[in-house]
Amino acid sequence: MTSGPRRASGVVSPSVDTAPGRGIPLGPSFDGVAPVLRPPAAPEPAVRIEGVSKRFGDGPLVLDDVGLDIAPGEFVCLLGASGCGKSTLLNLIAGLDRPTAGVVETPAEGSAVMFQESALMPWLTARRNVELALRLRGVPRAERRAKALSLLDAVNLTDAADKRPHELSGGMRQRVALARALAQDRPVLLMDEPFAALDAITRDLLHEELERVWRATGRTIVFVTHNVREAARLGQRVVLMGSRPGRIVQEWRIAKTTGRRIESPEVAALSVEITEQLRKEIRRNAA
Ligand SMILES: Nc1ncnc2c1ncn2[C@@H]1O[C@H](COP(=O)(O)OP(=O)(O)OP(=O)(O)O)[C@@H](O)[C@H]1O
Ligand SMILES: [Mg+2]
Repeated sequence: MTSGPRRASGVVSPSVDTAPGRGIPLGPSFDGVAPVLRPPAAPEPAVRIEGVSKRFGDGPLVLDDVGLDIAPGEFVCLLGASGCGKSTLLNLIAGLDRPTAGVVETPAEGSAVMFQESALMPWLTARRNVELALRLRGVPRAERRAKALSLLDAVNLTDAADKRPHELSGGMRQRVALARALAQDRPVLLMDEPFAALDAITRDLLHEELERVWRATGRTIVFVTHNVREAARLGQRVVLMGSRPGRIVQEWRIAKTTGRRIESPEVAALSVEITEQLRKEIRRNAA
């Protein structure tokens, strides 16, 4: 695709001059006429959120001046107490809603979204659910079956391809939903508590599968959770949000992301640190 990134903005414009549609700051011109693009210090972010606020109608401010750059291929976990605005922020990134103020930039190819409920078509088999996403993407009929089977294989569901959703466990349904999200072949995958309803063992297995898929596909992933351990297990970066209004209060970057398990000592240690900050936030809100 040749078009520029998708840009949704609220009433506030960015404070710097930007190239049309790119959001790259313009440097001074050498000849006094044509502005010259200043080379960016870091690679262009896959997702750029700047000065974003959100209010529903005349209700209270739900998000306040949120800024976040997410690099291509990065795995970011958005963590925060219930009601702090995680889903609101994810919906803005998905383009399902618009900010009241500020700018959200995402790749022109868009995002695939996965929610807590798998939302599969109940009358279609697992394979046909995935094929439907391929059809909507314009994949020719002759290629769909093989592609769907290979995506189901990627989430370890080869044997369940011909089963309908009601014949599958909750964990298997979420895996079909993940295969369907991957079938959309978007550079950004947005996940809103996709494993929250699952038992701990199934969740643990899906963490491994998601990590494997992430490493194999290089997708940019934004994963929303209120589970501290899950965030510390999965993220390359954990971004903690505070409540009322929702905003970013702290973030942690994890240098070594290979070999992590939910029970790993480093995951436990990071969870303790994050939980402490989360508790502070919750106490601050209760005060
Ligand atoms: N469409 C809407 N209209 C009005 N208020 C909304 C709307 N969507 C969300 N809100 C409010 O915005 C706030 C943040 O909601 P949001 O769903 O983003 O929280 P969350 O962090 O995802 O919570 P949870 O962890 O429980 O899913 C809440 O106070 C909620 O009532
Ligand atoms: Mg939510």
